[in-house]
Amino acid sequence: MRLAVYPGSFDPITRGHVDVIERAGAVFDRLVVAVLINTRKSASMDASERAGIIRAALDEELDRTAAAAIEVTTFEGLTVDLARQRGATSIVRGLRALSDFENELAIAHLNHKLAPEIDTIFFMTRLEHAYLSSGLVREIAAFGGDIGAMVPDAVVRHLAARGGR
Ligand code: PNS
Repeated sequence: MRLAVYPGSFDPITRGHVDVIERAGAVFDRLVVAVLINTRKSASMDASERAGIIRAALDEELDRTAAAAIEVTTFEGLTVDLARQRGATSIVRGLRALSDFENELAIAHLNHKLAPEIDTIFFMTRLEHAYLSSGLVREIAAFGGDIGAMVPDAVVRHLAARGGR
């Protein structure tokens, strides 16, 4: 069984992330979407809240078989430790543009030094999502802008329910 871990902040999950999850889910038997319990970077929502939104979004947006092959969890510490615990062969990341490349390359190389048996597999973000980022989505939402085209409905509902906080 080929299992991959897709780590990230997902603060919040965007349509770009969902696209990567769907495509990675088609390549691997199981995918663990792992939400970082941020220690340095202060997140706008706690990790279990972010994971709950991701679960709801995947159950709504993917077909039942695809959604069932994806686990959503939270994690602390190193991605490679989680990947090893789960017996993952790969770490999945999305690449939007050249601006992502340098940082992603560094992370991939360092993770490879830490765990040479685990490879990082990159999915090129679809062009229609290439401009999307969770940070910009948060900013637009904070000023009352319409983020419906950028994030799954589960995010829109969640943010509406917490009154734009
Ligand atoms: O969505 P993000 O914020 O770009 O995701 C960054 C993430 C979670 C992939 C990265 O910060 C990470 O892997 N954190 C866990 C700690 C770790 O393993 N660090 C070593 C990588 S060099």
